Amino acid sequence: VTPRTPFIAGNWKMNLDHLQAVAFVQKLHWTLKDAGHEQGRVEVGVFPPFTDLRTVQTLLDADKIPFALGAQDLSTHDSGAYTGEVSGAFLAKLDARYVIIGHSERREYHAEGDDVVAAKVQAALKHGLVPVICVGETLEQREESGPTAVSVAQLQAALANVPADADFVVAYEPVWAIGTGQVASPEQAQEVCAALRGVIAQTLGEDAAARTRVLYGGSVKAANIASFMREPDVDGALVGGASLVVDEFASIIRYQK
Ligand code: G3P
Repeated sequence: VTPRTPFIAGNWKMNLDHLQAVAFVQKLHWTLKDAGHEQGRVEVGVFPPFTDLRTVQTLLDADKIPFALGAQDLSTHDSGAYTGEVSGAFLAKLDARYVIIGHSERREYHAEGDDVVAAKVQAALKHGLVPVICVGETLEQREESGPTAVSVAQLQAALANVPADADFVVAYEPVWAIGTGQVASPEQAQEVCAALRGVIAQTLGEDAAARTRVLYGGSVKAANIASFMREPDVDGALVGGASLVVDEFASIIRYQK
């Protein structure tokens, strides 16, 4: 089994327009270069708003910047009368490799349930995109049903009808840790990430479990990234706020265990 390359992904959410995106990506690239960052040790992903994707794609391509491009959502449909929706086919044509699915902000503000998440996972795979499947519990749910039950159930639902050889990423993002500065402990992250790897093993087999990256997300910063990366079942981070600050995000990417 090939070792899992750590994945540090920046979810910009609804921040940075396409002009700001150009400045940001260039600056991040040069900051990493100046620091002598060794490419390939970590996969870096940026997940800008839809309106930035074309511009960022052009920049990555023109300047040979080795960041993977991802979108923050996609439609369950391929095309048609779905005003405001964006097809996975369009994202694939823009060289997006990844797409975030089931982020708690989509689940909460857009009432996306497990059925929609599962349909979006299918749509992503159909168009050759790698879904980054987000799961995680609220504080109330943690108190009621323990640390793993909600995430395990969400992932089981998302993986229904996913083939054993599918390429996907899982992100454990406890809702209570997102944008709150109230970060999970490395042990808490490890416990749930290990349970999620167990779900992958049960559903798709040991090979899939061994090769699939499971990320932690929720108030990740330069000061705490290494503590998560020391955990055996945490293969990277999905970073929100700290991915919008060049020096901070560069330091996260350059973490040392
Ligand atoms: O998808 C990343 C995310 O929800 C975490 O956000 O700002 O707590 O790093 P943040």
